[in-house]
Order: sequence, then C-alpha cells, then structure tokens
Amino acid sequence: MRLFFALWPDADAAARLADIAAKLTVHAPGRRVHPKNHHVTLAFLGEVPDPQLAMVQQAAGSVQAHRFTMEFDLLEYWAQSQVVVAAARKCSPELLGLAAQLHAATGPAPRPLRAHVTLARKMTQAPVLQAMSAIGWEAVSFSLVRSDTGGAESAYTVLDTWQLLDET
Ligand code: 2AM
Repeated sequence: MRLFFALWPDADAAARLADIAAKLTVHAPGRRVHPKNHHVTLAFLGEVPDPQLAMVQQAAGSVQAHRFTMEFDLLEYWAQSQVVVAAARKCSPELLGLAAQLHAATGPAPRPLRAHVTLARKMTQAPVLQAMSAIGWEAVSFSLVRSDTGGAESAYTVLDTWQLLDET
C-alpha cells in the first residue's frame, strides 16, 4: 500500500483553503484537488508491503514532537511538479523536526521540505496567481494515510493519528 504521513487542516483552515482553491483559474488538463484531500505531506513512504504497516505505526508512535503553528501565506506555481500550492514562507523548526523524526523512524531519504498544501495538479501552464491572505493553522496531531491512486482523484484513508504534545 502507498503510505504517507500528513497534517490535516482544522475546520477553519480547511474552509479557507477550499475558498482559495475555488478562486484559482484552472484550465484543462489542470484540476483542483478536492478540498477534503487538502493536507501537508510530512513524509512520503511510497509503496510499503502490508506486513510492514505495524512497524511503521510503532515507529510513528515513538515520535516526540510538540504542537506548532503554521502560516500559509503564499500561492505558488511549481513548474516541475505542475502544481499550484499554498506555501508557508517560513517553515517552523517544530515542523521540520517532526518531518525529520518521521523520516528517521521510517526510512525514506528526506527531500528538502517546504511546507505546502497542493491545491491543483496537472497544471501544465503557469496560472496567474493572486496574493493570498495568510491562513494560520495549529498542528495538534499527525496522521498516517493510505493513498489509493486508481480513480481520477486519489482516495485518502487515515489509518492512524498521533497527538502532538502540549506546550506545557
Ligand atoms: P504533495 O503534498 O506535494 O502533494 C500523497 O500522494 C502525497 O504524497 C501527495 O500529496 C504528494 O505531495 C506526496 N507525494 C506523492 N508522490 C511523492 C513522491 N514521489 N515523493 C515525495 N512525495 C510524494
């Protein structure tokens, strides 16, 4: 199964991301990511054999990280991956630390993490992008998610969620 660790937005951030995505100009073959699929990928594991799931869950359970806030304040077009993203100008050390722990615990080599939410895919041409007003979002938990890529839109299933530690 194809797995990744991710942060899912709270209701307020989700509504604001959906609103921004709805206002994007998207021409075929580009398409918006369904708002229910908006997330921040922390670590992409790729194909993991079923018997290794328990090991991945155990490793994630040993991660120690505190809650943190993120601010998504920039709409960007990433030509290489043909996506439009809402990105964070600054990446909090807590987020980088959490992603690094997940990578260290589960194996795959990290790629430089730029916190972002993908809003549209298959964007073969650079769209005109407006400025966006910042969306603040407090990460209180992270999830292990299975991605089924068979359909037109990937179907994501949250397999497990771990709470981040309180500041106190
Ligand atoms: P994204 O957050 O940039 O969109 C589930 O497939 C998530 O894992 C996607 O949202 C995507 O990141 C990320 N992902 C997919 N394929 C990947 C790959 N080969 N390397 C790194 N991340 C990948």
